[in-house]
Amino acid sequence: MTSTAISGARILSVGTALPEQVLTNEDLEQMVDTSHEWIVERSGIHERRIGGTTSDLAASAGKAAIERAGIDPATIDLLILATTSPDRRVPATASTVQELLGLQCGAMDLNAACSGFVYALVAAHGFIEMGHSRVLIIGAETLSRMTDWTDRTTCILFADGAGAAVVEKTDGAGDLHGWHVDSNGSLEEALFCDFDGKIEMAGQAIFKNAVLAMENAARKSLAMADMSADQIDLVVPHQANVRIVEASCKRLGIPYEKTSMVIHRTGNTSSASIPLALEDAWTGGRVNQGDNILLVGFGAGMTSAAAVITWDGI
Ligand code: UT7
Repeated sequence: MTSTAISGARILSVGTALPEQVLTNEDLEQMVDTSHEWIVERSGIHERRIGGTTSDLAASAGKAAIERAGIDPATIDLLILATTSPDRRVPATASTVQELLGLQCGAMDLNAACSGFVYALVAAHGFIEMGHSRVLIIGAETLSRMTDWTDRTTCILFADGAGAAVVEKTDGAGDLHGWHVDSNGSLEEALFCDFDGKIEMAGQAIFKNAVLAMENAARKSLAMADMSADQIDLVVPHQANVRIVEASCKRLGIPYEKTSMVIHRTGNTSSASIPLALEDAWTGGRVNQGDNILLVGFGAGMTSAAAVITWDGI
């Protein structure tokens, strides 16, 4: 899949929200047969946040992004909420968030698992190209509700959180130079959660495919952007496992030091993880005007997505 019709939008601002409750590896040692050392060595996670509802976390992140942008919420034309953990089956949690934020616009959920935020970013650029002026995109999850807290192979990984971005129409080409979205439905059984069930995962199968899927999505985005890996200033990857990110970076020839990582304090927050890591880099002074940023994720489905942008936000 290729496209050259990319123009006219930029990420203006980002905002995030995390629940107050911290769950440490030491806490998990009291719940399942695991150890802080094992979790850190195998995943890079030290602690994670749990609690709240997806809509509340999403609204807090969205509010932060709107306030940081300094825009009137009434100017937002569309809300896209990437989530795998909606508050309800119906209606879309995006409608709840719309009400919480007092927006008057279209609202929809998007489920592409951990790739969801990048899917939403690409979709937002598309809606703006078709005439919208501002789109609020949010990735928000309460995976703790879907976690089996007796299963040590999954409960050490998943957590809750939200991240948002205001995407707006801009004069000129915009910030998105290349993108790729993908899915491999044959891997459905490797990671799934049935209605009213808990997350089930074949960790090693996901691990291997994740490294390849991240590399593939990144390479296709870079090719569309006509950029080489060494032109990337910052990589904002899905935060599933430090070792997956290290292996993907190695295959792409991008130094690991160029990544923004928050997994040590957030765990795996699925569609929230990329905006959480982007905001962390931004607040840490690692995002500057004109920087080339690679956003890349993978997740259940098995989905993958990447976008190459040049930062033109606040
Ligand atoms: O957003 C996308 C979602 N998911 C992912 O990206 C997950 C991808 N997979 C992974 O991140 C890794 O596969 C895990 C972190 C889940 C597991 O790491 P691993 O290095 O692949 O470990 P493993 O599954 O090969 O297990 C190694 C050993 C096993 O024991 P034996 O058979 O060698 O005796 C497991 O039973 O570690 C054991 N083990 C644990 N030990 C302590 C599994 N979970 C734990 C645990 N604490 N929590």
